[in-house]
Amino acid sequence: MHKRKIMENIYWMGAVDWDRRLFDSLIPLPDGTSYNAYLIEGSEKTALLDTVDPPMSGELMAQLGQVDKIDFIISHHAEQDHSGAIPRVLEQFPEAKVVVTTKAKGMLMDLLKIPENAFITVQDGETLSLGNKTLKFLYTPWVHWPETMVTYLQEDKILFSCDFYGSHIATSDLFVNDQGRVHEAAKRYFAEIMMPFRNTISRNMEKLRGYDIRMIAPSHGQIYDQPEWIMNAYRDWVLGNPHNVVVLPFVSMHGSTRQLVDHLTSALVDRGVRIELFNLAVTDIGKLAMALVDAGTIVLGAPTVLVGPHPLAAYAALLANALKPKAKFLSIIGSYGWGGKTVETLAGMIPNLKVEVLEPVLCKGVPSAPDFEALDKLAGTIAQKHKENGFR
Ligand code: FEO
Repeated sequence: MHKRKIMENIYWMGAVDWDRRLFDSLIPLPDGTSYNAYLIEGSEKTALLDTVDPPMSGELMAQLGQVDKIDFIISHHAEQDHSGAIPRVLEQFPEAKVVVTTKAKGMLMDLLKIPENAFITVQDGETLSLGNKTLKFLYTPWVHWPETMVTYLQEDKILFSCDFYGSHIATSDLFVNDQGRVHEAAKRYFAEIMMPFRNTISRNMEKLRGYDIRMIAPSHGQIYDQPEWIMNAYRDWVLGNPHNVVVLPFVSMHGSTRQLVDHLTSALVDRGVRIELFNLAVTDIGKLAMALVDAGTIVLGAPTVLVGPHPLAAYAALLANALKPKAKFLSIIGSYGWGGKTVETLAGMIPNLKVEVLEPVLCKGVPSAPDFEALDKLAGTIAQKHKENGFR
């Protein structure tokens, strides 16, 4: 794709990765992604904001073939999907300086072996003039590594946010034209890489409140020319109360745990609690992560394999522990054959979750009447806890 004009002297560059289906060899990308770089031509200086993932650097270099000079490469984030092509850009524009936070400088020297004399470090709030355009750099740690910053283009009131507010979507549309689709993609993205850093992100959001932001140009997905809705969505995901929702990832080997799951589902629905089920044998882990953003309670459905939890259930526990959702309650249900330490093992895997653990329901073999009664009691407890906490 050729470079595309956003407004006078400001261009989208980069690459749309239509084929990519996995990020970090972990995160599913059902809709592909894009690596957005931006070119800002001031009256005196020209800046390139971020680059692209190394396998797609050819596309960026072809776009830069029509550019006479690059004075600054603004690197918001050291992760290679944005920084990886900096060495190639420096080969073509050796006079360019790489503008970074102090932390990013060391990371880029380690990751990409960029020489120290290629960098200019900027402090939080520092500005850089391109002549008739002024870049203001704001430190925004943990979106999504500790070194990240964003750039506010003062004259045009555009926030170049890199990962922050991004979404994994491959599309030829430059601007958001389907809010529903982007909302889902942005929420999935938030869940997978931002959710663990909610406290820091809320401070970053607070910091940006003082700026008149007319457009957000992230480095993944489409540009927000009406940014208010995505900023509001982030406020809900980061600061909002959990919802009246139980998220129940489960796996069942011979159907017994599935019986428990189905009974609890009905019991919760009868009590006015919404529930989202994820059969871990077939589920998209990204959808599970997205559901965890709103979950009031997490229930793990885990049969015992040998003496511990089924490995897929253990994986879900580790994932929830890594993502640190704001759920307030957790329980475990499952069937076992002759014994084991499923509950103790799973409980030991979730030290990051600040949850009250509700009485687990484990049954030997196929569940019977007392097990179903215990599930009804668990459903009642969850409904009551959600009500007391104002989950809606
Ligand atoms: Fe899109 Fe954290 O890199």
